[in-house]
Amino acid sequence: MVTILGIESSCDETAAAVVVDGRTLASNVVASQIAIHAEYGGVFPELASRAHVEAISLVVEEALHDANTTPDQLDAIAVTRGPGLVGSLLVGINFAKGMALMSGKPLLGINHLEGHIYSLWLTQPFRPVEFPVVVLIVAGGHTELLLMRDHGVYERLGGTLDDAAGEAFDKVGRMLRLPFPGGPHIEQSAATGNPKAYDFPRARRDSGFDFSFSGLKTAVMREVTIPASTQARMGRQVTTEKKSQLRSDVRVPDVAASFQSAVTDILVEKTVRAAKEHGATEIFMAGGVSANGMLRQKMRKESDLPVRYPPLNLCTDNAAMIGAAAYWRFQTGLRSSLEFDVLPMWPLNNDTYSR
Ligand code: KG4
Ligand code: ZN
Repeated sequence: MVTILGIESSCDETAAAVVVDGRTLASNVVASQIAIHAEYGGVFPELASRAHVEAISLVVEEALHDANTTPDQLDAIAVTRGPGLVGSLLVGINFAKGMALMSGKPLLGINHLEGHIYSLWLTQPFRPVEFPVVVLIVAGGHTELLLMRDHGVYERLGGTLDDAAGEAFDKVGRMLRLPFPGGPHIEQSAATGNPKAYDFPRARRDSGFDFSFSGLKTAVMREVTIPASTQARMGRQVTTEKKSQLRSDVRVPDVAASFQSAVTDILVEKTVRAAKEHGATEIFMAGGVSANGMLRQKMRKESDLPVRYPPLNLCTDNAAMIGAAAYWRFQTGLRSSLEFDVLPMWPLNNDTYSR
């Protein structure tokens, strides 16, 4: 039995979890900073690292307590090394290093994207995986399409050329004056809207496996806001940073539903095609946006292959996924130096752990 403490602080959640054999959650604690960042409509890096500092020791303590575990009963301590916000990552990394030093337990610096993938190993009941599988990681900071040939063996098929899918949800949410983060609120609003009300563009339909969401975002913007220049012409003073105004005749649920429909169409179309072209046995989805009901439903409908996604509470950032990914790395002998550095930009490929 291998028991690993996972720690995650790459963005706006301070999280710790105890994971047994990469499959079973002994505990899972997530302290979200949503309330702190809501006021700014996005993650404010300085505030994020400060909030991590305030939360981390309590969060780790609680995770150990919930799992009825002490540091000396652990086999390893795993922490997100990147990608993410440098100040936020450092809080988790320094805490984990301190713990590893004091307890004498091995330390593993884990890639956050690999963590998202291994959240799928925490689904219950677990069905054995037959490689290769196509993996779509859709989160606030990432949109990646990968072919996973085995544990730790990845071929990148494509990714976003501009905004991440979750970022697009968050930006459109802001345009529609919905609370932060936009994703879940757009989904909620879309439930009563007409997805055909607006015909938003589906970019890069036929070209490869890359995604682009900035054109879609601009199309929504054009549809729903009155530009600052027009407002000025109408004699309105435009002083705040919220230069564009929401048109009064906009039906928010219709825009939300039409936007969600466009994003999910693009994600599903490319993922299904990638799975076919590369002979995948299954489609895996992970990351915050994989919580989206329409995305899940469309993917299942459009693909003949089985589709897996994490349980809802493991789609967004958490430390359980870091513990789960660390289990496989631990088995292959990965041990990180206590001096390892933070990697804010850290691609996931076959050389990921050679640094
Ligand atoms: O995985 P995550 O916590 O962060 C990153 O690793 O980047 O994902 C957060 C993102 C946010 O952009 C949020 O709006 C989006 O996931 N999200 C959703 C839903 N729930 C969260 N997007 C669409 N539908 C949802 N239900
Ligand atoms: Zn994430």
